[in-house]
Amino acid sequence: MSNLCIIDHPLVQHKLSLMRQQDCSTYKFRTLTNELARLMAYEATRDFPIEDYDMMGWEGNIIQGKQIKGKTVTIVPILRAGIGMLDGVMDMLPTAKISVVGLQRDEETLQPVSYFDKFVPNVSERTALIIDPMLATGGSMVATIDLLKSKGCKDIKALVIVAAPEGVKVVNDAHPDVTIYTAALDSHLNENGYIIPGLGDAGDKIFGTV
Ligand code: PRP
Ligand code: URA
Repeated sequence: MSNLCIIDHPLVQHKLSLMRQQDCSTYKFRTLTNELARLMAYEATRDFPIEDYDMMGWEGNIIQGKQIKGKTVTIVPILRAGIGMLDGVMDMLPTAKISVVGLQRDEETLQPVSYFDKFVPNVSERTALIIDPMLATGGSMVATIDLLKSKGCKDIKALVIVAAPEGVKVVNDAHPDVTIYTAALDSHLNENGYIIPGLGDAGDKIFGTV
Protein backbone atom coordinates (compact mmCIF):
# COMPACT_ATOMS: atom_id res chain seq x y z
CA MET A 1 0.00 0.00 0.00
CA SER A 2 1.25 3.45 -0.82
CA ASN A 3 2.41 5.88 1.86
CA LEU A 4 2.41 3.19 4.51
CA CYS A 5 5.50 2.47 6.60
CA ILE A 6 5.29 -0.71 8.68
CA ILE A 7 7.93 -0.60 11.40
CA ASP A 8 9.07 -4.18 11.23
CA HIS A 9 11.64 -4.00 14.05
CA PRO A 10 12.10 -6.82 16.58
CA LEU A 11 11.55 -4.51 19.57
CA VAL A 12 8.38 -3.13 18.03
CA GLN A 13 6.97 -6.55 17.18
CA HIS A 14 7.85 -7.95 20.63
CA LYS A 15 6.21 -5.07 22.50
CA LEU A 16 3.13 -5.10 20.27
CA SER A 17 2.58 -8.81 20.96
CA LEU A 18 2.66 -8.12 24.72
CA MET A 19 -0.05 -5.50 24.21
CA ARG A 20 -2.25 -7.96 22.32
CA GLN A 21 -2.35 -10.44 25.22
CA GLN A 22 -5.72 -10.68 26.94
CA ASP A 23 -4.28 -10.31 30.46
CA CYS A 24 -2.26 -7.14 29.66
CA SER A 25 -2.83 -4.81 32.66
CA THR A 26 -3.58 -1.08 32.38
CA TYR A 27 -0.10 -0.28 33.67
CA LYS A 28 1.59 -2.61 31.19
CA PHE A 29 -0.57 -1.47 28.26
CA ARG A 30 0.15 2.19 29.04
CA THR A 31 3.88 1.58 29.41
CA LEU A 32 4.11 -0.40 26.17
CA THR A 33 2.06 2.24 24.31
CA ASN A 34 4.62 4.89 25.24
CA GLU A 35 7.58 2.62 24.50
CA LEU A 36 6.18 1.94 21.01
CA ALA A 37 5.44 5.64 20.51
CA ARG A 38 9.11 6.41 21.20
CA LEU A 39 10.28 3.90 18.61
CA MET A 40 7.72 5.13 16.08
CA ALA A 41 8.78 8.75 16.57
CA TYR A 42 12.36 7.66 15.89
CA GLU A 43 11.29 6.12 12.58
CA ALA A 44 8.91 8.92 11.55
CA THR A 45 11.64 11.54 11.96
CA ARG A 46 14.20 9.64 9.89
CA ASP A 47 13.80 12.03 6.91
CA PHE A 48 14.23 15.23 8.94
CA PRO A 49 16.99 17.31 7.31
CA ILE A 50 20.16 18.01 9.28
CA GLU A 51 22.88 20.62 8.91
CA ASP A 52 26.41 21.08 10.23
CA TYR A 53 27.30 23.82 12.71
CA ASP A 54 30.43 24.90 14.55
CA MET A 55 30.61 24.40 18.29
CA MET A 56 33.18 24.34 21.07
CA GLY A 57 34.24 20.79 21.85
CA TRP A 58 35.47 19.46 25.20
CA GLU A 59 39.13 20.23 24.32
CA GLY A 60 38.37 23.90 23.67
CA ASN A 61 38.61 23.51 19.89
CA ILE A 62 35.93 24.34 17.34
CA ILE A 63 34.39 21.10 16.11
CA GLN A 64 31.49 20.36 13.83
CA GLY A 65 28.13 19.36 15.24
CA LYS A 66 24.91 18.40 13.50
CA GLN A 67 21.47 19.77 14.15
CA ILE A 68 17.99 19.32 12.72
CA LYS A 69 17.51 22.03 10.12
CA GLY A 70 14.45 24.23 10.04
CA LYS A 71 11.98 21.70 11.38
CA THR A 72 9.52 22.58 14.07
CA VAL A 73 6.99 20.01 15.12
CA THR A 74 3.52 19.93 16.55
CA ILE A 75 2.43 16.64 18.03
CA VAL A 76 -1.32 16.08 17.55
CA PRO A 77 -2.86 13.50 19.90
CA ILE A 78 -6.41 12.47 18.98
CA LEU A 79 -8.32 12.33 22.30
CA ARG A 80 -8.52 10.23 24.23
CA ALA A 81 -6.31 7.32 23.23
CA GLY A 82 -3.70 9.47 21.47
CA ILE A 83 -2.73 10.87 24.89
CA GLY A 84 -1.35 7.42 25.63
CA MET A 85 1.40 7.97 23.04
CA LEU A 86 2.19 11.57 23.96
CA ASP A 87 4.90 11.09 26.60
CA GLY A 88 6.76 8.65 24.37
CA VAL A 89 6.83 11.00 21.38
CA MET A 90 7.73 13.98 23.61
CA ASP A 91 10.68 12.01 24.99
CA MET A 92 12.13 12.12 21.47
CA LEU A 93 10.93 15.65 20.57
CA PRO A 94 11.00 17.53 23.88
CA THR A 95 10.60 21.01 22.36
CA ALA A 96 7.60 20.13 20.18
CA LYS A 97 4.37 22.01 20.79
CA ILE A 98 1.11 20.14 21.28
CA SER A 99 -2.11 20.59 19.30
CA VAL A 100 -5.09 18.57 20.50
CA VAL A 101 -8.05 17.16 18.57
CA GLY A 102 -11.01 15.63 20.43
CA LEU A 103 -12.98 13.05 18.45
CA GLN A 104 -15.31 10.32 19.68
CA ARG A 105 -16.32 7.57 17.30
CA ASP A 106 -20.10 7.05 17.30
CA GLU A 107 -20.55 3.39 18.20
CA GLU A 108 -23.53 2.95 15.84
CA THR A 109 -22.46 4.86 12.74
CA LEU A 110 -18.66 4.60 13.36
CA GLN A 111 -18.45 8.25 12.28
CA PRO A 112 -16.14 10.56 14.27
CA VAL A 113 -17.92 13.20 16.35
CA SER A 114 -15.84 16.30 17.07
CA TYR A 115 -15.92 17.75 20.62
CA PHE A 116 -12.69 19.76 20.97
CA ASP A 117 -9.70 21.16 19.14
CA LYS A 118 -6.89 23.52 20.05
CA PHE A 119 -3.99 24.16 17.69
CA VAL A 120 -0.70 25.91 18.33
CA PRO A 121 -0.69 29.40 16.74
CA ASN A 122 1.83 28.72 13.96
CA VAL A 123 0.61 25.22 13.15
CA SER A 124 0.84 25.89 9.39
CA GLU A 125 4.64 26.22 9.67
CA ARG A 126 5.11 23.01 11.60
CA THR A 127 5.40 19.34 10.75
CA ALA A 128 2.36 17.70 12.33
CA LEU A 129 2.78 14.26 13.87
CA ILE A 130 -0.71 12.90 14.53
CA ILE A 131 -0.75 10.19 17.20
CA ASP A 132 -3.50 7.66 17.84
CA PRO A 133 -3.00 3.98 18.71
CA MET A 134 -5.79 2.80 16.37
CA LEU A 135 -6.55 3.42 12.69
CA ALA A 136 -9.79 1.48 12.11
CA THR A 137 -12.25 2.87 9.52
CA GLY A 138 -9.96 5.87 9.06
CA GLY A 139 -12.74 8.36 9.84
CA SER A 140 -11.01 9.92 12.86
CA MET A 141 -7.68 10.22 11.05
CA VAL A 142 -9.20 11.80 7.92
CA ALA A 143 -11.17 14.29 10.08
CA THR A 144 -7.95 15.25 11.91
CA ILE A 145 -5.96 15.68 8.69
CA ASP A 146 -8.84 17.74 7.21
CA LEU A 147 -8.70 20.02 10.26
CA LEU A 148 -4.92 20.41 10.10
CA LYS A 149 -5.04 21.21 6.38
CA SER A 150 -7.82 23.74 6.98
CA LYS A 151 -5.34 25.50 9.31
CA GLY A 152 -2.74 25.56 6.52
CA CYS A 153 -0.65 22.59 7.63
CA LYS A 154 1.29 21.14 4.71
CA ASP A 155 3.55 18.52 6.24
CA ILE A 156 1.60 15.82 8.09
CA LYS A 157 2.50 12.31 9.27
CA ALA A 158 0.31 9.81 11.11
CA LEU A 159 1.66 7.47 13.81
CA VAL A 160 -0.66 4.59 14.73
CA ILE A 161 0.22 1.43 16.60
CA VAL A 162 -2.24 -0.80 14.72
CA ALA A 163 -3.85 -0.11 11.34
CA ALA A 164 -6.65 -1.88 9.47
CA PRO A 165 -6.34 -2.14 5.67
CA GLU A 166 -9.76 -0.47 5.34
CA GLY A 167 -8.59 2.60 7.26
CA VAL A 168 -5.27 2.83 5.45
CA LYS A 169 -7.10 2.89 2.12
CA VAL A 170 -9.52 5.59 3.29
CA VAL A 171 -6.64 7.81 4.50
CA ASN A 172 -4.52 7.14 1.41
CA ASP A 173 -7.44 7.95 -0.92
CA ALA A 174 -8.34 11.18 0.90
CA HIS A 175 -4.79 12.32 1.70
CA PRO A 176 -2.16 10.58 -0.44
CA ASP A 177 0.50 13.05 0.78
CA VAL A 178 0.28 11.80 4.38
CA THR A 179 2.53 8.89 5.35
CA ILE A 180 1.14 6.47 7.92
CA TYR A 181 3.65 4.83 10.28
CA THR A 182 2.38 1.71 12.00
CA ALA A 183 3.69 -1.22 14.02
CA ALA A 184 1.24 -3.57 12.29
CA LEU A 185 -1.12 -3.77 9.37
CA ASP A 186 -3.75 -6.12 10.77
CA SER A 187 -6.25 -8.36 8.98
CA HIS A 188 -9.62 -6.56 8.88
CA LEU A 189 -12.39 -4.80 10.81
CA ASN A 190 -15.12 -6.84 12.50
CA GLU A 191 -18.84 -6.01 12.27
CA ASN A 192 -18.48 -3.48 15.13
CA GLY A 193 -15.60 -1.65 13.47
CA TYR A 194 -12.92 -3.17 15.74
CA ILE A 195 -9.57 -4.12 14.31
CA ILE A 196 -8.88 -7.88 14.15
CA PRO A 197 -6.69 -9.13 15.75
CA GLY A 198 -6.11 -5.56 17.01
CA LEU A 199 -5.84 -4.50 20.63
CA GLY A 200 -9.48 -4.12 21.66
CA ASP A 201 -10.53 -0.67 22.85
CA ALA A 202 -7.19 1.12 23.21
CA GLY A 203 -8.64 4.20 24.96
CA ASP A 204 -10.33 2.06 27.61
CA LYS A 205 -7.14 0.08 28.18
CA ILE A 206 -4.94 3.17 28.50
CA PHE A 207 -7.32 5.02 30.82
CA GLY A 208 -8.49 1.94 32.77
CA THR A 209 -12.14 2.50 31.84
CA VAL A 210 -12.64 -1.12 30.78
C1 PRP B 1 -10.72 5.16 18.80
C2 PRP B 1 -9.26 5.31 18.41
C3 PRP B 1 -9.34 6.24 17.22
C4 PRP B 1 -10.62 5.82 16.57
C5 PRP B 1 -10.30 4.91 15.42
O1 PRP B 1 -11.11 6.24 19.56
O2 PRP B 1 -8.45 5.78 19.44
O3 PRP B 1 -9.39 7.61 17.58
O4 PRP B 1 -11.38 5.11 17.55
O5 PRP B 1 -11.45 4.56 14.74
P1 PRP B 1 -11.74 5.04 13.26
O6 PRP B 1 -10.49 4.83 12.47
O7 PRP B 1 -12.84 4.10 12.84
O8 PRP B 1 -12.18 6.46 13.29
P2 PRP B 1 -12.58 6.38 20.21
O9 PRP B 1 -13.45 7.17 19.30
O10 PRP B 1 -13.06 5.03 20.63
O11 PRP B 1 -12.35 7.31 21.45
P3 PRP B 1 -11.38 7.21 22.72
O12 PRP B 1 -9.99 7.49 22.22
O13 PRP B 1 -11.91 8.28 23.59
O14 PRP B 1 -11.49 5.84 23.33
N1 URA C 1 -10.94 1.94 18.36
C1 URA C 1 -10.27 1.09 19.20
O1 URA C 1 -9.91 1.47 20.32
N2 URA C 1 -10.04 -0.16 18.76
C2 URA C 1 -10.42 -0.60 17.55
O2 URA C 1 -10.17 -1.78 17.22
C3 URA C 1 -11.12 0.29 16.72
C4 URA C 1 -11.35 1.55 17.15
